[in-house]
Formats: sequence, structure tokens, C-alpha cells
Amino acid sequence: MPPSTQSADPHRSDVPDPSAASAGGDSNSRRTAPEHTGPDRPGADRPGSTRAASSGAASDGAALEGAALEGAASKRTEPGRPGSQRPSSQRGDPAPVDPGALDPDRLEEVRVQASAAIATAGDLDELAALRTLHLDGRGAPLALARRALGALPQSERVEAGRRHNTATAAVRAAYEARLAELTAERDARVLVEERVDVTLPGTRRPRGARHPLSTLSDHLVDVFVAMGYEVAEGPEVEHDWFNFEALNLGPDHPARSSHDTLYVDPVGSGLLLRTHTSPVQIRTLLSRPLPVYVVCPGRTYRNDAIDATHSPVFGQLEGLAVDEGITMADLRGTLEAFAQALFGSGLATRLRPSYFPFTEPSAELDVACFACRGEPARQPCRVCSDEGWIEVGGCGMVDSNVLVACGVDPARYSGFAFGMGLERAAMIRHDVHEIRDFVDGDVRFGLSFGTGN
Ligand code: PHE
Repeated sequence: MPPSTQSADPHRSDVPDPSAASAGGDSNSRRTAPEHTGPDRPGADRPGSTRAASSGAASDGAALEGAALEGAASKRTEPGRPGSQRPSSQRGDPAPVDPGALDPDRLEEVRVQASAAIATAGDLDELAALRTLHLDGRGAPLALARRALGALPQSERVEAGRRHNTATAAVRAAYEARLAELTAERDARVLVEERVDVTLPGTRRPRGARHPLSTLSDHLVDVFVAMGYEVAEGPEVEHDWFNFEALNLGPDHPARSSHDTLYVDPVGSGLLLRTHTSPVQIRTLLSRPLPVYVVCPGRTYRNDAIDATHSPVFGQLEGLAVDEGITMADLRGTLEAFAQALFGSGLATRLRPSYFPFTEPSAELDVACFACRGEPARQPCRVCSDEGWIEVGGCGMVDSNVLVACGVDPARYSGFAFGMGLERAAMIRHDVHEIRDFVDGDVRFGLSFGTGN
């Protein structure tokens, strides 16, 4: 059995009346309005008698037509079948049919009240609620009046339908008019509230600065790359073997104590924060084919409290050349080119004897002071404290023990290495007095070097 049959009231024996279409203007009431059902007929104003009118509102016209016809058929075959009407509460009918709702005065009152309420709706939300309340909702007076059409005798229905149509059209017109007003108001308000002034300047993000150590490191790396060196890097968390052992620092070397070196948990793992960039020499010799010419910039760590001249983290730049026939003259020439790139061309350099476990012989590289050049006439000198020389870093010929530890034959190959601190070089070059400035992260410090681009 199709669902439309279920929605029809078997007590309704009416066939559709085409004349009711113009009267009610409602396909629902048209198809279910009985030709001979009126208030005078018992059951006509019972709640159940309008069931098809209300429940059919959700169905399409064709289904209702079929439902009405079938309802008529079932009426003929099973008149008054008990139980075919359910209580109105079960069907959710809001109110009993009141034919008086179609009285001209009542309709006029409904029209006036609904139109007035709608005309004073404060905003679009309120208007939507009023539309349901007065026009479309199941309990709206006009909807209730429409339901009553079916309860009128045919003679009155056409006229009542027209009245109902007129009142509905008037209320709908009031709704449309208020809708137009409120929409226009809303649009005007939104235009003002959401106005964008395209002539205002955009939000400017302050530009950061490159860290001056990065700029210096890149500059120095460029100098070496121009001489044919490659860049090599290694981990900042390093193993003891690379940082000390392979570099010929014996087990008792003071640099290995925790006073100087920051070890990493777990104890005994051999892991530490590298204390210099020299372990990259080892990694390079173990991993690259000879000859090697590498420059290794990077961060390094020592167990120092921060003050004006010490920092637990600082930058270094390491260099390593291992080839056949490398001599100290190569070291000297290379470092002179490097020192002049750092502090200015034409400056003299000198090597002072020194000691490092991984180079033999070892030296400190000095470059003539760019401010006074050691000339008493230009002193007192703030840059070199009248020394006339600036210490740049350590250097030397790679110790044969290091070459052996890396599997390089010292009888065939020799090499030099050097290492320098970046902060110290930057402080001298740029007259910076506090090493702290490099780690504080104040962008004003960085900006004073330019953006680095
Ligand atoms: N690694 C040494 C230091 O940190 C510097 C250095 C590097 C010395 C290479 C000689 C050769 O002080």
C-alpha cells in the first residue's frame, strides 16, 4: 500500500472538487474538502475529519489526489471501520477546526494584527520568527483559518477562500515590504561597519637582522672557498674520541676535565658538547679522499660562566689542508691571505711558537694591529692595548699521531691546521666590548651591523 493511502482519512468519502481550487487556493484543502461534509454532518468538525488536510500538507498533490480517491473507496467498502481514527494528540494537530476563523471580521483582524507586527520587526531574525508566527507556522492564524475551509459548505467556501487568499496576500506583502527595508538597512550598516580603507598603510613587520657572527663566518668561508677549500661540518654533540682522543689529547689532559668540558648524559656515554671545531678534522680525514682542503665553521661549548670576555657557547672556524708536500710555508701564506681578508689588506702577520696536542710544531697567528700598526705615534691604541699585534688563532702542522689515528700515512702526507674564535675576531673588527652582546639576542645589536643582505 503506497504511503499516500495511509495519509488519507478513510472516513472521507469525498472526490476532489475543482471549484474549491480557486476558492481555497490550496491544493490540500481542495483535494480533501468534501462536497457534502459540513458542520452539520456528524464528525465533520471532529479533529479526525481534517487529518488529511493537515498531514497531506507534506505530500505532493498527486499523492493526495490518490489518497482522497482511495479514501473514498475504503469508505464505501468499510464504512465506519472502528479504530481508523486515532486521537488527535497522536497526530499532532494543533487545534480543532474553527470555521469561524474565516469570518470576514476575524480574517481582517488577523490581517491587521499580523501586518502590524511584521511592520515593526526590529531585525531580520525577528522578522523570520514573525513570519512563522503569523504566516507559515502550523499554528499561525492564517494556517488555522485555511484548514477551516474544508469544513465550510461548498456554497460558502469559494467566497471564504478568496477572503483568506486576500488576507494572506496582504500579510505576505507586509512581510516582503519589511524584508526589503530590513535587508537594505542591514546592507547599509555592513557597508559602513566593514568598510576597508585601502589607502591605509599595511602592517609593517620589523625586519630582523642576520647575526653578525653568521655574516662574519660566511665572509671568512668565502675567502677559503675562493682558495679552493670545501666546507665541512660536524655535530655539536660529539664523542670524546673525535673531540679529544683522536686529536692526541691524552686521558689526563686538563681540557678533558668537567671543569672545562660540558658532558652529556648518560655518564660514560662519551658524549660531550664539542669544545672546538677540531673534531671535524678527524671526521673529514676519515670520510673524504685525500688530498683534503676544508674549512669548518661551527658552534662550540666550554664550561665557562658568561662575563665580558667569556661565553659557554662561541663560534670557531677551523681549517685543514692535508696533501703531499705541505709545509709550514703553505700555512703561513694561507693564513696571511686569511688575516688580511679579516682585518684589511697589507697587514703583516707573524707566527708565535705555541703548543697544541694535535699540531707539531704549533703556533699562534698574530696580525698587525689595523688601528695603530704598532706605530707609537698612533698609540695609545684601544684595539691592541699598544701591543701592535692582534692574536687571531692557533695553528700548526698536523701531528703525525693524528694522521695515523685517521689512517693517513705520515710518510707520504703532511698537512696544516688552524682554528680561530669568531667572537674575538668580530669584537676586534667591530669594536664590540662585551661578548654577551652576541648571545643576548637584542635585535638592535644585530641591526647595527646592517641586515646582512
Ligand atoms: N682547536 C684549537 C682551539 O680550540 C685551535 C687550533 C685548531 C689550534 C687547529 C691548532 C690547530 O683552541
